[in-house]
Formats: sequence, C-alpha cells, structure tokens
Amino acid sequence: TPVFAGDAKEHQVLNIAHRGASAYAPEHTIPSYKMGDRMKGDYIEIDLQMTKDGHLIAMHDETLDRTTDGTGQVKDYTLAQIKKLDAGSWFNQKYPQYAKKKYEGLEVPTLDEVFKHFGNDKKYYIETKAPEVYPGMEEELLRILKKHGLTTKMKLKNGHVLIQSFSQASLLKMHHLNPDVPLVQLLWYETPGKITDEELETIKQYAIGVGPNFQKIDREYVQQVLKHGLEIHPYTVNQKADMKTLIDWGVTGMFTNHPDRLRKVLIEK
Ligand code: G3P
Ligand code: CA
Repeated sequence: TPVFAGDAKEHQVLNIAHRGASAYAPEHTIPSYKMGDRMKGDYIEIDLQMTKDGHLIAMHDETLDRTTDGTGQVKDYTLAQIKKLDAGSWFNQKYPQYAKKKYEGLEVPTLDEVFKHFGNDKKYYIETKAPEVYPGMEEELLRILKKHGLTTKMKLKNGHVLIQSFSQASLLKMHHLNPDVPLVQLLWYETPGKITDEELETIKQYAIGVGPNFQKIDREYVQQVLKHGLEIHPYTVNQKADMKTLIDWGVTGMFTNHPDRLRKVLIEK
C-alpha cells in the first residue's frame, strides 16, 4: 500500500479537513481551518480562486453569492472589495445549530494570510479551481508557497503541501513549473467509476494519487489504484459507515467536513 506522507511510519489514512471543519464553521474561513486543525485533521483543505488584481483567495465557488453577502464573479472584484464582504453570516443562517456570533463579518482569507496564520509546520491540501478562468494562478500559488518556506526539499518530502485539481492541464503546468510538488488528480464520476491501467499510468507520470467522488467507487476501484502505487483520497465522506467502508477497501486518505468523526473512526479501528 502506498503511503504518501513522508513521515508516516506505517499505513495511515489521512484525515483531510475539507474546507476546514466545514460542518461546524463557515467554510474557508480562519475559524473553520482552526477547528479542522484542533480536531486533528492532518491537512487543511483549501480551494483557490483569484481576484481581479491577481490575489489568491480561499473560496470554493467562482461566484461570491453562496458564501458571502456579495454577488457576482470573484474575477471581477479586487481583493480590497472582497475584503469588505461578510463570509460568515450565511453559515449562521443556514446552520443555526452551529451558529456563533463571532462568525458574523468574517473576512475571506487570502492564501498568504492562511499561511501567515498557521505557519509552515501545518499541512495544506490546495486545489486550483477554475484554472482556465485564472491564467497565472499556478505561478502565483508557487510564489506564495515559496514565500512561506513550503517548497523546500524537507517540507515537500514531509508532505506539507499537496496540490489537487480536476484540471489535468493545471496539474501538468504545476508539474512543469516544479516537478517536486506532489499532485493529486481529482476525478468525478456520474456512473460507477472504472479506471484503466492506461489511465492510471498516465496520471502516475505527474501525480502521486487520485481523488474520486466516493459514491461511485468500489473495492475493486480502490485496489486497482493501489496496484499502481498511487494514493487514493476520496471526497467528501461525512458518514461514519462510509468512512469505515472506504477504510476497509484500503483508501489512503479522505476528505471530510467532520474531521472529528473520521478521527474517532480511525482510533476505534
Ligand atoms: O477537493 C476534493 C473535493 O473538495 C472536490 O470537490 O467541489 O468540494 O472542491 P469540491
Ligand atoms: Ca476542494
């Protein structure tokens, strides 16, 4: 079984805090990432979008509408404009059971701010979203990683950074710019997922693993990936029963909005 994390002594299922502990706090805000870290997630997962003036920000959607009180495309707004938005109140309205006063008025963080806040001892699992909309986002990502000392040989060896994308073009670009940064190819299946030896060998030329939606895979799929010496990190797994099934099939990590739940499952195992 391949184990990516350079410091993992034995097979370890990585607990990836998806958009932070996003079941409990507004996704892609500092409190959400903090909670993911406190719940012992191995990685903080960050989706990236880019502002009109070229800043990388942590946001899932290409539009501001769902997770802020703004509207329209991220690419049409400067960072200064986006900084004025409230990225927390929507969560309080949508999830009153987890609402907190302190979430009101939270800012959209830049990637730079996230690294400043959490430092380079933490581990980051970063997705280039919509790279075709944001020319230059890969270069900017590498610049910010370097600025925070996250692309040194030691940091990369110890698995401090993983870059993921649905876009093969974006991953190939990253690989070209810096072949030492480990990459994960995200995959989406609408029908039961099958992956061929050929596809896996192609992916292996630039990536260390794949990330499929978990609903459409089975034991055979997982074993097929493992046979090629690749990691497999399905997304987004929130129920204990699904976590247990995937662990049984041999996955090497998973994305979850409930890192506390996955931790429990892993401890009880
Ligand atoms: O990055 C893994 C998973 O997060 C992909 O889906 O839409 O949640 O970014 P999404
Ligand atoms: Ca993601």
